[in-house]
Amino acid sequence: MTSKREHWGSRLGFIMAAAGSAVGLGNIWKFPYVTGENGGAAFIILYLALVFTIGISVLGAEMVIGRKSQHDAVSSFKKLGTPGWSVIGYMGILAAFVILSFYAVIAGWTIAYIVKTVSGSFSGLDGDGFTNAFVGFIADPVQPLIYAAIFMALTAVIVMGGIKQGIERAGKILMPLLFIIMIALVVRSVTLPGAEAGISFYLEPDFSKITGSTVMAALGQAFFSLSLGMGVMITYGSYLSKEEKLGKSSFYVGFLDTAVAIIAGLAILPAVFAMGMDPSAGPALTFITLPAVFDSMPGGVIFGGLFFFLLTIAALTSSISLMEPVVSFAGERGISRGKAVIGTAVIAFILGVPSSLSQGVMSDVTFFGKGFLDLMDFFTANLLLPLGGMLVSLYVGWVMGAKAKEEMGGDNLLINIWIIILRFVAPAAIALILLNGLGILSL
Ligand code: TRP
Repeated sequence: MTSKREHWGSRLGFIMAAAGSAVGLGNIWKFPYVTGENGGAAFIILYLALVFTIGISVLGAEMVIGRKSQHDAVSSFKKLGTPGWSVIGYMGILAAFVILSFYAVIAGWTIAYIVKTVSGSFSGLDGDGFTNAFVGFIADPVQPLIYAAIFMALTAVIVMGGIKQGIERAGKILMPLLFIIMIALVVRSVTLPGAEAGISFYLEPDFSKITGSTVMAALGQAFFSLSLGMGVMITYGSYLSKEEKLGKSSFYVGFLDTAVAIIAGLAILPAVFAMGMDPSAGPALTFITLPAVFDSMPGGVIFGGLFFFLLTIAALTSSISLMEPVVSFAGERGISRGKAVIGTAVIAFILGVPSSLSQGVMSDVTFFGKGFLDLMDFFTANLLLPLGGMLVSLYVGWVMGAKAKEEMGGDNLLINIWIIILRFVAPAAIALILLNGLGILSL
């Protein structure tokens, strides 16, 4: 190795980039409706408990691997003297391509929705009109692909800039912007007449809704939301210098990610209630219910445009983190950043084509009863990510052991609890998510 590894310019820059990875479609699109379906505040309490025990522990474990080895997610394990565990990195690279491919398709929809909202193409539609507008748009064979290509190109441009000038700078600009827009949306939402019903729906706990499957939903959501299980945090950790305190950093990232998710619900649900819409529309909430909400509320064109812009920013800082592990891997094998970025973007885009078409012309083509996009989502969220997270926990807890403690900062009570979580609690919990996700066990 002759070239010196690039590092983050500052601790804040690293935290913003890692939080940018974590904060994504999962927080703003998925968290509010999953919370709505699973008992409101009771789900939030459960989610918090899981994030701050298992979630942050696995996040810290990934960072420890990367920071210790100073290598990409595959070479890390060779460098640490355990090449067999490189399988974690290879699975991560595979997951990165797959997630990036369908993430860009959905993020493309959000860009299209900025344009459609601002240009007034939703104004005055009736209930069915919003549904038809969405279903018609995503079924189109060409348009959504153009938007996916635009999104992929934006991602590529940022990753091309490297760690400090590209990823870190994007995080430092986009994350505060995201926060400001979100606060503006919350203020608009909670001050609408009739918003109280939404606030109480969201924040009053209904513990009777907590069942085994709620716990599974919360844990799966925590993993996806914290970007765990595919080596993103190994890669980002590898650009850290030895002085950083990893425990604190993983706490901040987990905290920011969770705060954004909870606040996103507060931006969305009160407005949905105030406009008399159905909060349990599930995934359709963002693209069908919300445009209708914005259309009927004062200042809706501006707030609607801002909302979809917010969603696009959140998706962009996440897709960057899906591309970087692949680029980092290629880079250590002598491929230039430019070539790696273009190659990754093109392959992921091509892999995204059937995902996009599965919403229209290819909707009859199913695999195991699922359309292509759903299959890709299922394969990563229910299989590759939990498997990756479990292997990371076992590796850091059992194989690294004392070395991991030292890397984390020594031998204190918190660090010992962390190791116990990685050795026993996290693997057992993840095994349950896996079995449940694959339908082998149903809780
Ligand atoms: N965490 C992001 C979200 O909430 C998605 C994401 C980015 C991700 N990188 C990841 C998920 C790596 C799993 C693994 O939308």
